[in-house]
Amino acid sequence: MAKQTSDRKVNIVFIGAGAVGCFYASRLHHPENSLHVSLVARSNYKAIEQSGVQLKTRTFGDYTFQPEAAYPSVQAAAGAEGGWDFIFVTTKALPDVSDDSEMITPLVGSKSCIVLIQNGVGVEEPFRKRFPQTPIVSAVTIVSAEQISPGVIRQNRWTRVSIGPFTDGLGKTGDTELERRGHQATEDLTRWWTDLGGIKDVEPHDEVGLQTVRWHKLCINAAMNPSAVLSGGRGNASMVTDPELRQHLAGVMHEIWDAAPKILGRPFPDSMARPERILKSTERNVGARPSMLLDWEAGRPMEVEVILGNPVRIARESGVEMPRLQTLYALVRSAQEMRKQALKGKL
Ligand SMILES: NC(=O)c1ccc[n+]([C@@H]2O[C@H](COP(=O)([O-])OP(=O)(O)OC[C@H]3O[C@@H](n4cnc5c(N)ncnc54)[C@H](OP(=O)(O)O)[C@@H]3O)[C@@H](O)[C@H]2O)c1
Repeated sequence: MAKQTSDRKVNIVFIGAGAVGCFYASRLHHPENSLHVSLVARSNYKAIEQSGVQLKTRTFGDYTFQPEAAYPSVQAAAGAEGGWDFIFVTTKALPDVSDDSEMITPLVGSKSCIVLIQNGVGVEEPFRKRFPQTPIVSAVTIVSAEQISPGVIRQNRWTRVSIGPFTDGLGKTGDTELERRGHQATEDLTRWWTDLGGIKDVEPHDEVGLQTVRWHKLCINAAMNPSAVLSGGRGNASMVTDPELRQHLAGVMHEIWDAAPKILGRPFPDSMARPERILKSTERNVGARPSMLLDWEAGRPMEVEVILGNPVRIARESGVEMPRLQTLYALVRSAQEMRKQALKGKL
């Protein structure tokens, strides 16, 4: 298969030089094949500017990723020569804290494609609203990665990234040009990450197929993440081996499993693990602690809206209520708000 991209330089920028961003950026940067990847960093800008990104990976060994350029802000990246072909957003998805669609505005031009690698559902919506004519590629990863010190990323395991175009989430806009560009970008990224980046499980999907992957991952995230916080800080394996908690987790997973096909108009394929299988395999995942719990313990904002709030609202728009998810949403959101107020000395 041809690894060649094109004679034209492809300018790619990642906003959010954290665990996910740096890992996938490092697998896409191939200047010899016209792919030039830059990073917009924040707290780790100095480290990356000085020494690049140090990657310690289980899949590809240890290496240094020297981006084409590192920028300390979006504004600094805005004036780049040639503009940006691909703008990746790999921040934590926190629409209640910041509108990242507004943040990237100075980077978006007529040839740009936006790529979102984030957890949750409904993450594309603010971008679609702000940029109705810009192709969007939606991506879900199951990588396990973390930043262990500024500019040092450890990939613990897994590489799979599922990608697909996003127009309105259901592919019903009738905008054939937007669809065509989204499909083309999905194809290009699949080929580059696979042939050049060496990632063996890049999985392209059609629009509804990718949303199905998002809702399937939500079965895990919406069950495990808030429950880890509300159960007093338990890890995944610890929760599934407690009979009451296991019943609760299964209830949340089944609620999503039943709701998603009604929202998307397509059932989960047989190849996707059902709740019982997810729970069974989680028994072996000893030591794993959901990201929402890590964020809670570190006093950082949690991805409450995209993992809980959006699914409840999106389901409701389709006439589907999700009472278990709504309960988790109300409780975790309130816990976060109460802590914020307490820190401000207002309680
Ligand atoms: N890590 C995993 O294993 C994993 C697996 C699957 C999915 N995910 C999902 O992938 C997404 C990214 O997660 P992550 O683990 O990579 O998070 P992360 O390590 O916290 O990285 C996010 C990065 O975004 C940066 N950032 C945030 N706002 C910014 C801004 N306005 N300008 C510039 N940089 C900004 C942060 O900088 P600061 O350091 O300054 O805050 C941080 O470096 C999330 O949706 C997460 O749920 C993660």
